[in-house]
Amino acid sequence: MRIYDILDKKRNGNELSDEEIRFFVSEYVNGSIPDYQASALLMAVCINGMTSSETATLTKAMAESGDMLDLSAFGGNTVDKHSTGGVGDKTTLIVAPIVASLGCNVVKLSGRGLGHTGGTLDKLESVKGMRIDLAPDEFMTVARKCGMTVCGAGANIAPADKKLYALRDVTATVQSIPLIVSSIMSKKLAGGAKNIVLDVKTGSGAFMKTLESARSLAKGMVEIGSLSGKNVSSVITNMDKPLGFCIGNSLEVAEAVSLLKNEKCDNDLRDICITLSSEMVALSKGISVSDAKARVEKTLENGNAYKTFREWITLQHGDVSVLDDLDKFASATFKTNLLSPCDGYIASSDAAGVGIAAMMLGAGRSAKEDDIDYTAGIIQLKRVGDKVEKGSVIAILQSSTVADQASAQAKMLESLTFSASKPDPQPLVYEIIR
Ligand code: URA
Repeated sequence: MRIYDILDKKRNGNELSDEEIRFFVSEYVNGSIPDYQASALLMAVCINGMTSSETATLTKAMAESGDMLDLSAFGGNTVDKHSTGGVGDKTTLIVAPIVASLGCNVVKLSGRGLGHTGGTLDKLESVKGMRIDLAPDEFMTVARKCGMTVCGAGANIAPADKKLYALRDVTATVQSIPLIVSSIMSKKLAGGAKNIVLDVKTGSGAFMKTLESARSLAKGMVEIGSLSGKNVSSVITNMDKPLGFCIGNSLEVAEAVSLLKNEKCDNDLRDICITLSSEMVALSKGISVSDAKARVEKTLENGNAYKTFREWITLQHGDVSVLDDLDKFASATFKTNLLSPCDGYIASSDAAGVGIAAMMLGAGRSAKEDDIDYTAGIIQLKRVGDKVEKGSVIAILQSSTVADQASAQAKMLESLTFSASKPDPQPLVYEIIR
């Protein structure tokens, strides 16, 4: 088999065979196919697309390029969750303990934040002592004890994706639905869960800017998951504005903890977490979504979800005392108030812009090797639809490293629009594809 012939075939818009796709993945990972030929294939796929069968084979080959977690010891109710990334998205910290407290098993391999989007590992590391670099035998022990674990994906989970993603990033081939589907789903297949719920975000702060593109991605992932023997459900959710009150690592952990403790919480965040958890429980227990929702609401209300959360954090060596008493949790050195420039209503809040403002405060990285300030971030006191008065405080910006917050303030303000009348509410969950 020759890579040249495979390139020729795909450039002409023909379907590649399983053997050709597997040959490409294994020879690229072992270094026999150079980047320039792999780039040519990626571009041909971007232009000509892939059939479902090609995408399924690519996904499996990428998953099998590294370790495949064996979760069979947990039985059939293993469940994973993935978000395509957003601003203020702390849902994993909430839904994983909810579903684990209901007897589902969650072994979740998460990532770090980059650019304007946050990452679950960074949020977890804002808790003193919390270990996210667990070896497989360690994280399996944690999951066996409390029903869940969240930790970093080791270097050998879908290595083909790591190599191909880096190449896509510099060859303008990220935006191809079959390539995105295979990238995300290869990591989910390698994660080993039988049931998978995908939170596909759409809007200004999301990877998929339009509902149409989010729908194509959501459908593609459900189809490829089913072809690979998984039960998959995609929930398309709004990321035109940040999710919840807070953006920034320790602030988001505190917000998640408040929700789990049934203290002050944002309704949108609670609703999305209940929707995602209900899908996860319904899929893994084979019950209706309405039955699952009733169980989810109960485990939140009776405190069992928070009990599981505490147990999990303790098993991964995190200091749970600061979560029991959030006043003790990392507070920042520098705080400034963002004031409303006018009377009226907040009409929109561009999630990407708010994410960048948080990043400018030190909450995120612009390059992989950057350090982050866990205390940095934004507390939105007023959000889309809220009435504001000129000079009133609409947000608190905080940081322990950036004393001069003028640029972040300007970026945050630039991300907001104001109107004289109350804006119409936007949908929170657009649709669910099963
Ligand atoms: N997230 C991924 O993991 N892969 C993609 O290709 C895009 C988003």
